[in-house]
Amino acid sequence: MKKCIIIGASSGIGREIARLLIDDGWQLGIAARRREKLMETQQLAPDRVSIREIDVTDSSAAESLNYLINSVGGMNLFIYSAGIGWQNRELEEEKELATVQTNATGFARMTGEAYRYMARNGGGQIACISSIAGTMGLGPAPAYSATKAMQQTYLEALQQQANQRRLNIQITDIRPGFVDTDLLGHAHYPMMMKVADAARLTLTAIKKRKPAATIDWRWRLLTRAWKMIPKCIWRKMKIS
Ligand SMILES: NC(=O)c1ccc[n+]([C@@H]2O[C@H](COP(=O)([O-])OP(=O)(O)OC[C@H]3O[C@@H](n4cnc5c(N)ncnc54)[C@H](OP(=O)(O)O)[C@@H]3O)[C@@H](O)[C@H]2O)c1
Repeated sequence: MKKCIIIGASSGIGREIARLLIDDGWQLGIAARRREKLMETQQLAPDRVSIREIDVTDSSAAESLNYLINSVGGMNLFIYSAGIGWQNRELEEEKELATVQTNATGFARMTGEAYRYMARNGGGQIACISSIAGTMGLGPAPAYSATKAMQQTYLEALQQQANQRRLNIQITDIRPGFVDTDLLGHAHYPMMMKVADAARLTLTAIKKRKPAATIDWRWRLLTRAWKMIPKCIWRKMKIS
């Protein structure tokens, strides 16, 4: 069975993964808030792609996810690629709280529903695009880095629980560095990856059923190095 649901598939990494899975013969259910963007991807394989307008911050989003799963006729891979984030040194309340709503509350709502569905239906794989930002607290983007850390801890907890309950559920935490997408406003950042490369590496990690994968190798080295920095030094470091 090759049936995948992608939340956050209207642009960026999620949209690119959808395109790769279409080429690979998958049946897809794709969701986000911008219906017209989802329709563009649906045009690529109208008989294999179902779409649904879902806002993960809406309390009815889990119900919509079930509707989408039914349209596809099942789900054995769930990918959560919805996310927002800003550098927000001023801690503008609206931005901080919106980030928590989407990346933490929306993530728990949708991933929880996918997990419960798989627990009832013989298992499957859940992947989330978290970020290298979740590996340490980042001063320029407090809510973003905190919500990504929440995702990473939550995913680890889900895997432990699935193993304890002997559920056939595999969890994959994808942690990309900078990727050239709308999220970054297509501005220049160091060690920036093309979205096509990030999506390809993401799918490779998902197919290998890796528990966690940092994308790409340069970011893997960097995050390993910065995790060795003592916290007393990290707290004083200037991160731009
Ligand atoms: N770009 C990077 O450098 C980078 C690095 C590490 C991790 N990531 C993570 O990768 C994921 C995908 O981001 P991206 O870089 O591909 O950016 P993107 O192009 O902005 O994609 C974000 C996706 O999330 C969806 N989304 C946002 N709010 C939503 C909501 N309330 N309900 C449903 N869908 C929502 C957007 O769709 P609609 O606006 O149509 O709803 C869009 O499809 C995010 O979680 C991001 O944190 C990105």
